[in-house]
Amino acid sequence: MNRKTNRPLLKIGVLGSGKGSNCQSIIDAIAAGTLNAEIVCVISDVENAFILERARKHGIFAQFMSAAPFKTKLEADAEKKYIDTLKLHGAEVVVLAGFMRIIKKGMLSTFSRRILNIHPALLPAFPGVESWKQALDYGAKFTGCTVHLVDEGTDTGPIIIQRVVPVLDNDTPETLHARIQVEEHIAYPEALRLIAAGRLSFDGRRAKIEMD
Ligand code: GRF
Repeated sequence: MNRKTNRPLLKIGVLGSGKGSNCQSIIDAIAAGTLNAEIVCVISDVENAFILERARKHGIFAQFMSAAPFKTKLEADAEKKYIDTLKLHGAEVVVLAGFMRIIKKGMLSTFSRRILNIHPALLPAFPGVESWKQALDYGAKFTGCTVHLVDEGTDTGPIIIQRVVPVLDNDTPETLHARIQVEEHIAYPEALRLIAAGRLSFDGRRAKIEMD
């Protein structure tokens, strides 16, 4: 329970496959007292992913859970294990933070409209992988990041928050991605803050944000 707001802490389960800088931004927002939430578990499909180390460093339950044999899918057996672990830890919201597998029906219906993803582009432009490179190759002048609800499509769910990043003439894929990540680290905690405060609702696909 948060003493200032009287609202219970939002319980977040994080899934990630990589370095976990977005997870870190959520950990930092909680530690700074700007996000009324608790990360109850971090699960990774990559055994040595740095996201696990980050979580453990902060005393958060962190577990590698194999999702083999496929590279991009979470097959039924693995999906069940993931759901069971998230439930066991009381996750109310599932945050995908660089999780490189497609979420299927089972998990979508268990956490209906409570799975969030962050995408490194201004959706619906440049869905899929290496979106910063797609934006650069396309010649876009602006790109950014999007926090959205996960649905059955790839990067197609209702948009919660977007932040814009200009593409500079001398950008490389690496420099552009790095600047997008700076905005991601603001956008993800902000989206979760809206949910934790009960200020986010949807009218069809359109996110409605209640004033603070
Ligand atoms: C981010 O760029 C995110 O937009 C994409 O995967 C990357 C994850 O980065 N979905 P990190 O592991 O959070 O640092």
